[in-house]
Amino acid sequence: MIVTSTLTKGIFISGTDTGVGKTIVAAAIALSLRKAGLRVAVLKPVTSGAVLIDGRLVSEDAELLRWASGCTAPDRDIAPYLLREPLAPSEAAAREGVVIDLLLVREAFERLSATHDFVIVEGAGGLLVPLAENLLVADLVENLSLPLLIVARPNLGTVNHTLMTCECARSRGIEVLGVVINGQPSQPDLAEEYAARVISEYASVPVLAVLPRCGEVNEKVIVESLAKCIEKQPLALLLPLEVPHEKP
Ligand SMILES: Nc1ncnc2c1ncn2[C@@H]1O[C@H](COP(=O)(O)OP(=O)(O)OP(=O)(O)O)[C@@H](O)[C@H]1O
Ligand SMILES: [Mg+2]
Repeated sequence: MIVTSTLTKGIFISGTDTGVGKTIVAAAIALSLRKAGLRVAVLKPVTSGAVLIDGRLVSEDAELLRWASGCTAPDRDIAPYLLREPLAPSEAAAREGVVIDLLLVREAFERLSATHDFVIVEGAGGLLVPLAENLLVADLVENLSLPLLIVARPNLGTVNHTLMTCECARSRGIEVLGVVINGQPSQPDLAEEYAARVISEYASVPVLAVLPRCGEVNEKVIVESLAKCIEKQPLALLLPLEVPHEKP
């Protein structure tokens, strides 16, 4: 497939909410790009609800992203902030006496960007989730100057959440690539059937993929299955599925 993608540096994946499938979609994109031969980096700037495994604090999101991308960068770059409490990051950080520093995330991004062809960044929750005093996820997107991909759920209520997310992004001058509806059931109800059309009509951004709800619990299997789906959806046309020139 000959692809002329305008995406050169990376992508920021946010959601209309928490739990909509940002990690799964980000991992599926990472896997597709890796299979195309790109050196893909992943960045989960802030994880709340990090878990202790063998005495080590781990971001489960970052682990899945690392697996899908094959990224070997150090943890401090892939998941710089690991917070225990499953709360809004600003609150989880405050409880641990941590202050989330935009500059530190930016530097991690720069290091990843310098050594990889493409960087996939997964936000926390939605765009207006607070990371620190006077710092929202949307501020991070703006700071990294990455285009935004919005992951949305398929069912009733998603139109409102998706349009609000698009409006928020636009009001800040953030480029919105489009929307991925994730978790479409095999037998959609009426609302699920209409969501993609209504969103593309009212949000004035394309729905770049409608990804199925997989009857699977193993996340790696879900990611592999969704990566194959993505390759057949309009989203693939935006992704840089050609190997760029070598970086030092
Ligand atoms: N298409 C899918 N089919 C089946 N299960 C899915 C699908 N997408 C996501 N899931 C499951 O839904 C749950 C939430 O997905 P995911 O962790 O990707 O959401 P998220 O938006 O990244 O959440 P968070 O805000 O916590 O980062 C996970 O258990 C995941 O395995
Ligand atoms: Mg996630």
